[in-house]
Amino acid sequence: MNISVQKGDLLEQECDILVLGAFEGGKEPYGAAGEVNGELGGKMFRYWKAEKFTAKPGETFLMRTDGMISAKRVLVVGLGKIDDFGVESVRQVAATSLSVAKQLRCKKVVSVLHGAGYGDLQARDCARAMVEGVRLADYKFARYKKDKSKSPDEFEIVTKDGRAVRAAQRGIVDGEVGAAGTVFARDLVNTPGQDMHPETLVDAAKMIGKGKGSIRVRVYEKERLEKMGAGGILGVAQGSECPPYLVHMVYTPEKRTKKKVALVGKAVTFDSGGLSLKPSGSMETMKIDMAGSAAVLGVFSVIDQLAPKAEVHGIFGAVENMPSGKAIRPGDVISAMNKKTIEVLNTDAEGRLTLADTLSFAVKQKPDFIIDLATLTGAVVVALGEEITAVMGNNPELSQKILMAASAAGEKMWEMPLEKNYRKLIDSDIADLKNIGSRWGGSLTAGLFLQEFVNDVPWAHLDIAGPAFAERVIDPYTKKGATGHGVRTLLELLRTI
Ligand code: BES
Ligand code: MG
Ligand code: ZN
Repeated sequence: MNISVQKGDLLEQECDILVLGAFEGGKEPYGAAGEVNGELGGKMFRYWKAEKFTAKPGETFLMRTDGMISAKRVLVVGLGKIDDFGVESVRQVAATSLSVAKQLRCKKVVSVLHGAGYGDLQARDCARAMVEGVRLADYKFARYKKDKSKSPDEFEIVTKDGRAVRAAQRGIVDGEVGAAGTVFARDLVNTPGQDMHPETLVDAAKMIGKGKGSIRVRVYEKERLEKMGAGGILGVAQGSECPPYLVHMVYTPEKRTKKKVALVGKAVTFDSGGLSLKPSGSMETMKIDMAGSAAVLGVFSVIDQLAPKAEVHGIFGAVENMPSGKAIRPGDVISAMNKKTIEVLNTDAEGRLTLADTLSFAVKQKPDFIIDLATLTGAVVVALGEEITAVMGNNPELSQKILMAASAAGEKMWEMPLEKNYRKLIDSDIADLKNIGSRWGGSLTAGLFLQEFVNDVPWAHLDIAGPAFAERVIDPYTKKGATGHGVRTLLELLRTI
C-alpha cells in the first residue's frame, strides 16, 4: 500500500472510498463533509440522520454515491467531541477508515487530512498520525497463518491547502518511520519461543547493522560474559539449552555530537519462571518477555531514517529462562557485573537479574541518560492495567520528558515512585541484595532493585508488562497480539533531542 498526499479537490477524486470526518454534536456537515453533502444534493446528511449517525469516536457512516461525485462511496468517520479531539483521535480515525476500506476490498482510498487546522494541530503531526494509524491497523502477524485480507493499493490524502501538502509530506515520512519501527518490534514479540531464541535476537541486531556504516553491533558470548562477571545473565541462562548473549549496538550520527543515550531492553525470549515455575496459565504469553529488547531493536531498525542528533546505544542481555538440572536454584547467590551480590530467592524474578548486568554495562558507556524497557512485573499490570506503562526513575526531568514524548506518540505512561523506605525490603541476610521484595508494591521493589545498578546516571525504567501485548482489541490500530509499545515514545524522544 502506497500512502501519499496531494493537493486537489475531493469532489474530483476517483476512488473506491472517500473518507471524511465529522464531529459529534455538529448540527450540519461542514468543511469537506459539507461540500460533499452539497454535491450529493443533501442526501448524505439525510441518510446519516435517518441512520442516527452521531459521529462518536470510531462510529462510521457509509453510502454509495451513484456517480454524483467521482468517488464510488463516501465513508464518514466520527471524530468525537471537538473538545476531546487531538492527534490521537487522528491516529484512530485513520485506522478505522483503513479497516473499513479493507473489509470492502477497496483498491484506492482517498481521505481528507484529518485534524489539520483544528486548534493548534499541525499538518505534519496529523499526517504522521494518519500514517501510523493506517499502517498499524493494516498490520497482521502472518508467519503461521496466511493473511487472506487484502490491503488497498493506494491511500491518498487530499487537501486543498498547498502549504499543508509540503508539511504533510514530511509527516508521512515521520509516520512511516514510527510505523516501521513498531511493526518490526511487533513481529519479534509475536514470534513464539520455539522460533525466538537468544540467538534470534542477535541475528536481528546483526541484520539491522548490516551494510549500515552508522550502526555498529558487538556481541558478547558466554565465555566473554564469564570474564566480564555477568553473573545475572549467566545465572538466568544456566537452565536453558540456549547460550546467552549480550548485544551492544551503537548508532553514530553523521554530525559529531557529545550527546550519548543508552536504551536497554529486557530480552528473555521465554520466561517459564525457571525452577520457581509459573503456573501454566501465566506462562501462555511469556514469549513476550523480550518485548523491551524488541522495542530497542524496533528503534534501531529505523534509526538511520530518524537520524537523531545523539550517539545512541542499544543494549540487551538475551537469555531463555528454563528449569532443568542445571538451572539456578532458589537460594543461590550470584554476582552481577558491578560486583554486587544477589541472593536469588525466586528464579521467576529473572528480568532484574539480567538487567543488573545490562544496566551495569550501560553505565560503563558513560551515557547522558539510560532508559530501560522491560516486561518486568505482573504487579504493574495489577496497578495500571493492560494499557499503561509505569515510569520510574532517579531523575524527574528525564521522567517528565518521557511522559511528554509518550503523550505525543499516543502511548500511555504514568509515573510511579521509587520509595526510599521500600529499599530495605530487598535487603538480604547473606548478599548485597535479594531479588524479591515483600508481597506488596512489587513493581516498585523491582524498580528499586534496578536502581542499584545505575549509580547516579540519570535513568528511567519503563515497566511495559501491561501494554507490550494486547489480549483484546485496545483501539483501532492495536489489535490482539504484540503492540510494539515503547518504540514510538523512544523515537519521539530521540527526534526532539
Ligand atoms: N516476565 C514476568 C513479568 C510479567 C508478568 C510480564 C505478566 C508480563 C505479564 C517476570 O519475569 C516475572 O515473572 N515477575 C514476577 C516477579 C515476582 C516473582 C517477584 C511476577 O511478576 O510475578
Ligand atoms: Mg519471571
Ligand atoms: Zn520475565
